[in-house]
Amino acid sequence: MSLQKVTTKSIIEKKKKGEKIVTITSYDYSFAKLVDESNYDLILVGDSLSMVMLGNKNTLSVSMDEMIHHTKAVSRGVSNSLIVGDMPFLSYKVDLKDAVLNAGRFIQEGGAEAVKVEGGTEICPTINAIIDADIEVMGHIGLTPQKIYHYGGFLVQGKSMEAARKLILDAKNLEKAGVFSIVLESIPWQIAKLITETISIPTIGIGAGPFCDGQILVIHDMLGIFTDFKPKFLKYYGNVGQAIRDALSEYKKEVIEGSYPDIDHSYEYLDQGLDDVKTWYESADLDEEARELRKHLE
Ligand code: KIV
Repeated sequence: MSLQKVTTKSIIEKKKKGEKIVTITSYDYSFAKLVDESNYDLILVGDSLSMVMLGNKNTLSVSMDEMIHHTKAVSRGVSNSLIVGDMPFLSYKVDLKDAVLNAGRFIQEGGAEAVKVEGGTEICPTINAIIDADIEVMGHIGLTPQKIYHYGGFLVQGKSMEAARKLILDAKNLEKAGVFSIVLESIPWQIAKLITETISIPTIGIGAGPFCDGQILVIHDMLGIFTDFKPKFLKYYGNVGQAIRDALSEYKKEVIEGSYPDIDHSYEYLDQGLDDVKTWYESADLDEEARELRKHLE
């Protein structure tokens, strides 16, 4: 059954109604289709794909072209959830024109309905420019992974009076700039709660405690597929990594022992024609006939 596609307006409405917003990342057709069939509100094509799909050590290495490639795949699998494309490192902080054009690529080429940018008050002029081009924007404050070399690693943010104050004021300024929601990443739950109470647009937490209006997780993390490291907030909702290992080892075993494929998993040649094949096979000069077949290639 096809539901009406989720919009940025319906995401904001959910906060007003006190309904939780459930979101997750996806990076390809098959995963996105499963998420969409589970009626999630929003799918983020996160730049986390740099790590979980491409094996880079952080999110800084992923390019615009790679992000668009994955966004296209996701949008082919989605008919209900809102799709947000994550603007990668250097795609929106060099100049405003680039920012708008790159944001536009997510919509025009990728099939997304909105983009996400990392940053606080300092990113507001960029958000204004993107929104002026009729593109919906999601904010992202707290631990913004494109800035890890500034933080010195994937570290919890907002732990001092000054840092907490900045986060709350940043959230207010992002709301004023017109974002439809804000991701709060790796900040103390008390500060996330204050932000959530302060602004009228939804907060989407990841490592920001239970009082956000919604939650997001990286799908490969929560399924136990990407296990290179486990932040405190991460809960495994499955051990798909182990399920994959088990399946791979069973398939390998059956191929080696010859039990896969059996006849039930094979195609049948129609009985009445098989005798003709056997008669030809037994009398033919295979080398000569093969040479004849490739003659025009020589
Ligand atoms: O890239 C990503 O997956 C993200 C989420 C963690 C919010 O930005």
